[in-house]
Amino acid sequence: MRVLGLETSCDETAAAVYDGASGLLAHEIYSQVDLHAAYGGVVPELASRDHLRKLLPLLEKVVADAGGPAAVQGIAYTSGPGLVGALLVGAAVARSLAYAWRVPCIGVHHMEGHLLAPLLEQDRPGFPFVALLVSGGHTLLAEVQGLGQYRILGSSLDDAAGEAFDKTAKLLGLGYPGGPQLAALAQRGRPGVFSFPRPLTERPGLDFSFSGLKTAVVVALRGLALDDQTRADAALAFEEAVVDTLVIKCRRALEATGARTLVVAGGVGANRRLRARMLAMGERVGVAVVYPRSEYCTDNAAMIALLGELRLAAGQSDDLAIRARARWPLEELGPPRP
Ligand code: KG4
Ligand code: ZN
Repeated sequence: MRVLGLETSCDETAAAVYDGASGLLAHEIYSQVDLHAAYGGVVPELASRDHLRKLLPLLEKVVADAGGPAAVQGIAYTSGPGLVGALLVGAAVARSLAYAWRVPCIGVHHMEGHLLAPLLEQDRPGFPFVALLVSGGHTLLAEVQGLGQYRILGSSLDDAAGEAFDKTAKLLGLGYPGGPQLAALAQRGRPGVFSFPRPLTERPGLDFSFSGLKTAVVVALRGLALDDQTRADAALAFEEAVVDTLVIKCRRALEATGARTLVVAGGVGANRRLRARMLAMGERVGVAVVYPRSEYCTDNAAMIALLGELRLAAGQSDDLAIRARARWPLEELGPPRP
């Protein structure tokens, strides 16, 4: 089945066409990061308006690249979780087009898209696998047993991992999004000058908490001259603390589930130190550590089209309602319901 997917849940506008037989045929993405940079974070109303401007041209391009409207057999859109105004743009366009083109339509779960995004690769990981999703908006550790079958092993009790990077980067005087800039600064840091806690690793459980780390950085820097070397030393210690924490929790999740594959997804997955340390851990415990390519890891519509194809082809589709949900527990999902 050939499915058009639309993603507008946050600050990326994206459209893609995925075919069950031949794979991903087209995908386009537009990032609003420059629009929001001046404000230090995503401004929901600006995000909605920009989706409105960018979605149709992107959609027209992917549909043309994938054989034209007549070839589209179904439409999927991100129905939640996310910013409601932003979600509504994709939902209204998808639902209306599906009505006009007389094809089935389905609203899908953004996080389910992330969890199954590794299936976009030729070399698909087999079920079950453990997925660590670390981005600006999410920190989630889950066992993926199959389509619609997810066991949440842990999630962040406060800030997402990327959010912690961004907020700490701001403290260190860096711009938005701060993660990559903080990582670059950390390269010049001297090990051992600062040491920050590894939150929630002292006790059992797989949840995360990153907001205390930011406070630890503030406290450690209090009264110090914020010269370049000091900032770099703090950046390194912060990065070490986050990376260590993520690696410890992933190792525990692998032990708890017995899974032989770990998938790391989300923007923070681009962090070089995290990649190196996670690969080393995988080698030690005999587990394959997989990083899907970054365009499938960060927000995209390819994963939404893929998920839509899997569910629509199994006979599941929605009624005519336009649905947008700010919150949508992943636990509510299940296998396709024809
Ligand atoms: O998945 P993503 O591109 O987008 C959303 O969250 O929507 O993730 C972006 C997040 C930001 O918080 C950014 O600072 C962080 O990923 N990030 C990094 C790195 N590259 C991106 N954090 C640490 N190190 C990096 N190299
Ligand atoms: Zn996302």
